[in-house]
Amino acid sequence: MRKHLITSAALLSFVAVAGAQAETPPLEQKDRYKVGFAQMESNNPWRIAETKSFHDTAESCNWDLIATDAAGSAAKQVADVDSMIAQGIDVLFLPPREEKPLLPAVMKAQGAGIPVFLVDRSVDPDVAKPGEHFVAFLGSDFIEQGGRAAEWLIENFEGDKGVIVELEGTTGSSPANDRKQGFDERIAEDDRFEIVASQTGDFARDMGRQVMETLLQAHPDVNVVYAHNDEMAIGAIQALELAGRKPGEDVTIVSIDGTRDALQAIIDGKMGVTVESSPFFGPLACEVMQKYAAGEEIPGWVEVEDRIFTADNAADHIDEAY
Ligand code: AHR
Repeated sequence: MRKHLITSAALLSFVAVAGAQAETPPLEQKDRYKVGFAQMESNNPWRIAETKSFHDTAESCNWDLIATDAAGSAAKQVADVDSMIAQGIDVLFLPPREEKPLLPAVMKAQGAGIPVFLVDRSVDPDVAKPGEHFVAFLGSDFIEQGGRAAEWLIENFEGDKGVIVELEGTTGSSPANDRKQGFDERIAEDDRFEIVASQTGDFARDMGRQVMETLLQAHPDVNVVYAHNDEMAIGAIQALELAGRKPGEDVTIVSIDGTRDALQAIIDGKMGVTVESSPFFGPLACEVMQKYAAGEEIPGWVEVEDRIFTADNAADHIDEAY
């Protein structure tokens, strides 16, 4: 699915695509809205920043916000949406933890006449379509994020042979699927590189560290780590240092997100690059919802443009990082 691009500068204005939400429930124009935001977990800075962005937006956008935390359980996230439907929310913003298990929640909310906006992650694109089963997906191009990480590596790796360990995100989630596809396809075009292991670290720092410790024993010659998010990259750095390796010197680390710890790691010379994936969806959610309520057509994918952070600019952005 490739639709119109929203640049960071134009975060709050987007263009319409014809034929969007013909079959999704309308949203009445009201002074205040009861808004549901069903967060999947709060175990990393990215999720905490995303939830905060919704809370920070609530008053200025006239939302009575019901925010839940599924604590890493797709089943609880489905139950949280059920509860929000029972509480009579006007609109649902949902970051689905995994692509398939959250399909019933999307369908149920839509069936209850509640417009659904998917935020930052998507559901199975073969089953649920924007403009039919949900209004729109608000988020980044995860395939491109993986491709940009590979591109940076290809341009900046100085060795003859890159032995890569890939730390994948949550199995079955759209960013894990897409970031893997984007990176693996691009890196396969350069025969200096080989991905010797690719294993999930569930987007979590501790698990990233543990998986890296194990993979280091099986592949002591690893000299590149590609992590699907910064938390796992920081975990991998810890594991490498414990094993006496020197991240940034004998192991190149490439990652995605743009957290404060990752920018600090870049400044410290331990990480090469992190491709931005912004968690600040509150203002965009407000704008899209208001336009939808006003009867404007919404593109099926409201795409967010991401920056890239390297040694050239990390220090310029660390103060605004989360
Ligand atoms: O869906 C976006 C991903 O989810 C972020 O990259 C990751 O840090 C988060 O848990």
